[in-house]
Amino acid sequence: MSLQLGRNTFGDVANKGNVLSKEEAFALFNEWVLNPKLKLHMLQVGHLMKCWAAEKQGLDEAGQWRWEMAGLLHDADWDQWPDLHCKKIIEELESRNADPEIIRAIASHGHLHFGVIPETDMDKMLYAFDELSGLIHAYSLMRPGGYEGMDLKGVKKRLKEKSFAANVSREDIQDACERAGIVQDDLIQFIIPRQATVAAV
Ligand SMILES: [Fe+2]
Repeated sequence: MSLQLGRNTFGDVANKGNVLSKEEAFALFNEWVLNPKLKLHMLQVGHLMKCWAAEKQGLDEAGQWRWEMAGLLHDADWDQWPDLHCKKIIEELESRNADPEIIRAIASHGHLHFGVIPETDMDKMLYAFDELSGLIHAYSLMRPGGYEGMDLKGVKKRLKEKSFAANVSREDIQDACERAGIVQDDLIQFIIPRQATVAAV
């Protein structure tokens, strides 16, 4: 399902730096997202965004939460309103006066579907983590040890197997790495140990 958003500006610049508190963000997350698998995916992407903000962008705690919030809420409307994905969450965050950078990152997390090109680092990393994180998690579920001992080689093999996690777009993954200027192998190696620490809900 895809919905072209038909616009390229999101939120209000006057709201720059505004975030939802963790309590508010998690209340929205729990109210809107009922499917535990989707919840786990969103927690994983949120955690990866936070780790990237801390380790690669050198951001402080407030900056890390901005990145985490984008990841945590990026699919918030997918569960109950798939036809409105990701229009509904964007409008919700706009009505709550959230930072336009966070809203834009969510709006551009699938530009091939929503028509919004990733521009900022936050946009590009959310897009890059989204599908690859999903494929790596699917791989963990078929391994007896889960993430234990998972390596780059195994993930690359699954990536090549088109029938494995067939709903994960290989095209998006390749496009996202190119846009972010990241070698796909490096991104896989960033994701594995960090994603392994996110527990199911
Ligand atoms: Fe997602």
